[in-house]
Amino acid sequence: NQSNDYQCWLGYNKIQEQELLKYYRELLRTIVITGDTPVIKSAREELIKGIEGLTGIDPMIADAPEEKTFLIVVKSGNPYLDNLISKDILAKINEEGFLIKSVKRNGQQKIIITGKSDQGLLYGVFSFLRMIQMEKELDDIEIINNPVNSLRFINHWDNLDGSIERGYAGKSIFYNNNQLTDNLDRIIDYARLLASIGINSIVINNVNVHREETKLIDDKLDMVKKLADIFRNYGIKTFLSINFASPIELGGLSTADPLNSEVRKWWGYKVEDIYAEIPDFGGFLVKADSEHRPGPFTYKRNHAEGANMLAEELKPFGGILIWRCFVYNCQQDWRDYQTDRARAAYDNFKPLDGEFLENVILQVKNGPLDFQVREPVSPLFGAMGATNQFLELQITQEYTGQQRHLCYLVPQWKEVLDFDTYARGKGSTVKKVIAGSLFSQLYGGIAGVVNIGDDDNWTGHTLAQSNLYGFGRLTWNPDLSSGEITDEWVRLTFGNDPVVVETISQMLLDSWEIYENYTSPLGIGWMVNPNHHYGPNVDGYEYSRWGTYHRADHFGIGVDRSVKTGTAYAGQYFEENAIRYESIEFCPDELLLFFHHVPYIHQLKSGKTVIQHIYDSHFTGVEQAIVLKKKWEGLKDKIDEKRYSNILARLSEQVEHAKEWRDVINSYFYRKASIPDELDRKIY
Ligand code: GCU
Repeated sequence: NQSNDYQCWLGYNKIQEQELLKYYRELLRTIVITGDTPVIKSAREELIKGIEGLTGIDPMIADAPEEKTFLIVVKSGNPYLDNLISKDILAKINEEGFLIKSVKRNGQQKIIITGKSDQGLLYGVFSFLRMIQMEKELDDIEIINNPVNSLRFINHWDNLDGSIERGYAGKSIFYNNNQLTDNLDRIIDYARLLASIGINSIVINNVNVHREETKLIDDKLDMVKKLADIFRNYGIKTFLSINFASPIELGGLSTADPLNSEVRKWWGYKVEDIYAEIPDFGGFLVKADSEHRPGPFTYKRNHAEGANMLAEELKPFGGILIWRCFVYNCQQDWRDYQTDRARAAYDNFKPLDGEFLENVILQVKNGPLDFQVREPVSPLFGAMGATNQFLELQITQEYTGQQRHLCYLVPQWKEVLDFDTYARGKGSTVKKVIAGSLFSQLYGGIAGVVNIGDDDNWTGHTLAQSNLYGFGRLTWNPDLSSGEITDEWVRLTFGNDPVVVETISQMLLDSWEIYENYTSPLGIGWMVNPNHHYGPNVDGYEYSRWGTYHRADHFGIGVDRSVKTGTAYAGQYFEENAIRYESIEFCPDELLLFFHHVPYIHQLKSGKTVIQHIYDSHFTGVEQAIVLKKKWEGLKDKIDEKRYSNILARLSEQVEHAKEWRDVINSYFYRKASIPDELDRKIY
């Protein structure tokens, strides 16, 4: 299992450049790393593995710094640092942060990696190994690196039978047949991958908690404990998705009413049991009153009452309760032009601002609908100044090509993070809201629905590994640019050959726009086959009740969400954005159909009509997909056969499916609008 695609960005392949290899070998012969806690042990093992792989030498590990030791990894209180590193610098490191600094002692050059916590050291080690993988000089460095978000979450949608909801890379690496897998080594490798990108929390089961998964807080708790034991060694806390109706399903009570004292007691005992087994258990994630999942509404209680009941039980143990805001009416009649799924999260939660306990975090999807290729940012961000908020992103490519198409999501996520909510005037970006810094909140962070499974390369499409990597890096530091993250990932994964780095980086950075070009246009979303969500089907959802209409007819298309004439969704934003989205004139092209119903002959800011834009973008998208494949073929001699052919096969499929998308969408709108393509291309 040591193939490059299995190792992802932790391949630690031998440095090719001979001078550099000599330099690193010289420096890394002996290292010091002190402490023997589980997390430090993980850091030590990683260092050895990394140095062995990268340099081919077997480093000596010493307990105490000697004259000749170059690399020294010690906690910040260690007296060795006394005269080497000033208190001022150390004070700049936060609880999970680290410092990597080159110093001179008695004329000898040294590198110190230090931090306040074991986790800080682990992150420092991973960061240092990255530097070597990227062939950096180690002469003159001083890096203080603190995570911006205190909670950096992965959400698994794994079910105990081994299936993964919206998983596109095989089966669960945790479970099969309602048991824990015996391949625990793979889970350790997974924990390494996650820790290397700074993840510190994980939810290990699907938000849709079915019968078997409900038992994870009961007679299947030992499975949770075993996973928690692995993740703990890498500084990762374990959380569970729970079933709000557990008191009924497990406890035999007649109700799950959050204000019922028996129900509270029942949860109290459950939580106690869990902490008795797993003292550092993280807490619960809850999907309630959403898509037929049970919740407080059944008992005429609101979300705050539901969430607070659980949070109160978790609080004495330091536990956290995460409550999802993905709540909407999934039974909306098409004749109803007032109900708007996009409004739902805000309408449900905004009135409850300030009512949640301090260990409750609301988890909000990036957009108001559901992880479409293009959506506006959810207006809930910034609208709840008295409530902890998480951003939920989808790493798994449900609506973005299902890891059969290349769609690198880091640029999309950057737009979300940098979006200015204007909640407290200019500069009130989403990244500040969720980090807790805009409103000084206790908790904040980002959760990502992960894209891995038991495929040999974890993500099905090898290039989809970049989405997991990028997610972690952005969660650690939302200010990193797409370019920086991409460059890192490509180098770590495929090596430092400039042609490889340049080609793959460009492919990744272009891919979101390409996918958007040949799928649903101008922010309207959907147009996929219902249920499995792969492939084009313009009316797939239009004639179902899920409330995701595009409202296309012979004259025009789009959903009027203006305050003046539509669902008034646009009015949920703070003024600057509300004004921009309210009017057709100011609304950006890429979101026009999300906010407005316009005729096909409406002229976009680009100068094109809507219908011509649809035709053009779909023809262009296919051409661009072909270019992606050509670019990849140009790397044939530079990439190992296994990864080369995996990616080539996916890119070939992408080209074929892009053509299908183009033809289905173009012919649909050609027939609706009866307006010919100006360039007279083939439209069926
Ligand atoms: C999407 C997805 C579901 C998932 C839901 C959620 O709608 O298709 O499979 O359960 O999101 O986030 O809860």
